[in-house]
Amino acid sequence: MTTRDTTPVDRNLALELVRVTEAAALAASRWIGRGDKNAADGAAVDAMRRAFDTINIQGQVVIGEGEMDEAPMLYIGEKIGTGWSDSSGPMVDIAVDPLEGTTICATGGPNSIATLAVAEHGGFLHAPDIYMDKIAVGGGLPAGIVDLDATPAENLRELARAKKCEINDLVVCILGRDRHKKIIQACRDAGARIMLIPDGDVSGVIAVSQPGSGVDMYLGSGGAPEGVLSAAALRCIGGQMQGRLLYEDDAQIARAKEMGITDPNKKFTVEEMAKGDVMFAATGVTTGPMLKGVLRNASSAYTHSIIMRSKTGTVRYIEAHHNFSLKPTAFVG
Ligand code: FBP
Repeated sequence: MTTRDTTPVDRNLALELVRVTEAAALAASRWIGRGDKNAADGAAVDAMRRAFDTINIQGQVVIGEGEMDEAPMLYIGEKIGTGWSDSSGPMVDIAVDPLEGTTICATGGPNSIATLAVAEHGGFLHAPDIYMDKIAVGGGLPAGIVDLDATPAENLRELARAKKCEINDLVVCILGRDRHKKIIQACRDAGARIMLIPDGDVSGVIAVSQPGSGVDMYLGSGGAPEGVLSAAALRCIGGQMQGRLLYEDDAQIARAKEMGITDPNKKFTVEEMAKGDVMFAATGVTTGPMLKGVLRNASSAYTHSIIMRSKTGTVRYIEAHHNFSLKPTAFVG
């Protein structure tokens, strides 16, 4: 039987988490532009898993690399952290995406990141690895200003009214996919401008709440696990989001139910996807608007990370210079 540790999620954990995303980013960086997204992802997973072994938590993966029989590491349900052997450290749920934007990394494109989020036990929506329809806007706007069931034109009209601007002042970030042709056209017809991204909707969603990103709204479908990670970040920095799971067959509906989702058509809010005390961390693998990518040479590397906490709303950017000759192998990549 597991002993429940009631230690609050300590703020120092935030800095430990950056070491974990740094390790994954450093490992993935060896594969930037080498055309092998699976190798890049595998290296990031392996490094992230090893780095978690140095942290005193009783962590359980709830958003991970897949089911136990399909993923050797960081699978859903895996227990990680050093706290399990003596019931020490906080009991936390963990959402990971060791390499978000595997294709971007493999092609040397912009904006791939290593990312994770941590919540108090029970804090994350247990989302199956299927698609999720997403809409997000930044903080400081009236509640319910946008809705997945409204048309793009209606959402843009409401957002423009709240921001006291014209629709053609607004920029909508959307994943460049054929399935999004209609919403892209609808946004353009309404007068908005579009920022198409090739991959990486975690940072696409986060951009709505980042001053200076130029993005006002995120729209479109992407991975449900990525949706939960994005919600964790918005819990920390503010912003509204709705996510609704999209099913391809009955087996996916059954899987969602098994994972505790009672209403398969529910529109989940940020708070329903990531509740309680939440932390979000990411390290850039390749340079994007949010983070600089890893710069490395034979003996050292530079990383750029972000860490945020919902409790205080603090956002920290951490630049790290890594000296490989002095670093434990778990963190060299
Ligand atoms: P990977 O890192 O797994 O390659 O995911 C990249 C990504 O663009 C996500 O950010 C996004 O949620 C998802 O893929 C979209 O899926 P698809 O490529 O099938 O449209």
